[in-house]
Amino acid sequence: MTAEDTTSNGMEKIISLAKRRGFIYQGSEIYGGLAGTWDYGPMGAALKRNITDLWWKRFVEERSDMYGMDTAIIMPEAVWRASGHLEGFADPMVECVKCKHRFRADTLTDTATCPDCGGALGEPKMFNLLFPVSMGSTAGSGTTGYLRGEIAQGMFVNFKNIIDTFHPDIPFGIAQYGKAFRNEIAPRDFLFRIREFNLMEFEYFIRKSEWERWFEYWREEMWQWMDAIGLSREHIHELEVPDDERAHYSKRTIDFEYDYPFGRKELYGLAYRTDYDLSRHTEASAIDLSYYDQEKNERFIPHVIEPTFGIDRTVLALLSDAYAEEDAPTADGGMETRVVMKFNKKVAPVQAAILPLMRKDDLMNGAKAIFDALKKDFRVQYDETASIGKRYRRQDEIGTPYCITFDYDSLSDEKVTVRDRDTMQQERVLITNLRSYLTDMFAS
Ligand code: GAP
Repeated sequence: MTAEDTTSNGMEKIISLAKRRGFIYQGSEIYGGLAGTWDYGPMGAALKRNITDLWWKRFVEERSDMYGMDTAIIMPEAVWRASGHLEGFADPMVECVKCKHRFRADTLTDTATCPDCGGALGEPKMFNLLFPVSMGSTAGSGTTGYLRGEIAQGMFVNFKNIIDTFHPDIPFGIAQYGKAFRNEIAPRDFLFRIREFNLMEFEYFIRKSEWERWFEYWREEMWQWMDAIGLSREHIHELEVPDDERAHYSKRTIDFEYDYPFGRKELYGLAYRTDYDLSRHTEASAIDLSYYDQEKNERFIPHVIEPTFGIDRTVLALLSDAYAEEDAPTADGGMETRVVMKFNKKVAPVQAAILPLMRKDDLMNGAKAIFDALKKDFRVQYDETASIGKRYRRQDEIGTPYCITFDYDSLSDEKVTVRDRDTMQQERVLITNLRSYLTDMFAS
């Protein structure tokens, strides 16, 4: 299978940089690419990890009402039957009778003509997005499970475990991040619509009477999160999802849409899932998933507010937000265009690059000693290849906020040059002060 459309308008430069600098590669590229899959390279993996670390710290570790989990990816058919995904998790698909390309009918303006070859499109059919997996050693004798189509169900089926183990007061939440799988009809737009993707999500269990208050609370928290990772508010817009477009389990949904280079589309979602999931699982499993409030001597099935954060779409939005082209002076006094990724300092894959001015033993030894001294506290990278100008440009494209250069003067004055990514200003800093210098810079 070959890679499908991934180069929509405006994305080419970002896709090219993502590959050139080791952020994102096409999945299974040497075999022509597998549509709807992407591999994170060293810089992308670091960026993604910084996002999930910040999210986990903020929403799990720094709160006393959130229980973090990491649940199984394969879940039995019974879960997806109860959750409604076996019936309701489907998109309308049309196929071209001539070129056999498939499209989501709800994304086409003309549902009669193939946008690729002009051939006639067939009748729309509902296409279920869940990925079945066959479990068991002998073909045909095993049972069918499903790769989870949403990570939420792992948290709902563990509701009773969390109650029994931790006896939380309501309201409380269960949080996790991890992979989800959807057999998308037409994966497209780079990381935007893929078949294997990453989500961060929590289910926040509340009393029904309080749903509006908690919906507003989490709406504001989601804005604060987007500020914290450096997404600019001017590119984000709320959309009240109309009744006929909401997921089958939701009574109210707000999408946070982002202005991607290919248009304004969903980034995150906030849904009021009512008591739908816990009620359905109680019915289907015959296990009571109600909550008992001892103080009020009251038993009820909690309602749920669900903030959901797509990780790959976060990466895509951060790449889009950060990408800039600017005029920059060259070493010989001319001007050139530099590409610079202006990531928020907290998410930048590398926080500081340590560079010997030249490949001379005494300069390299000095730079390596700084790398060793800082590596436990900061995400640092040592780089001795190519000219210093080329290394600055490379670090700009990775989005490294600070380049620290050890030069000949450093041997005598024990200072290094620290270059700021955004202003390109340089200042001399005592090597012994570097740790506190960087600590201050990353605190702001
Ligand atoms: N538990 C709720 C849920 O899964 P969703 O709106 O279907 O809700 C949640 O998906 C988030 O997952 C979306 O807001 C989006 O960020 C991301 N997402 C959904 N489908 C995706 C896909 N095919 N590729 C990449 N990200 C996707």
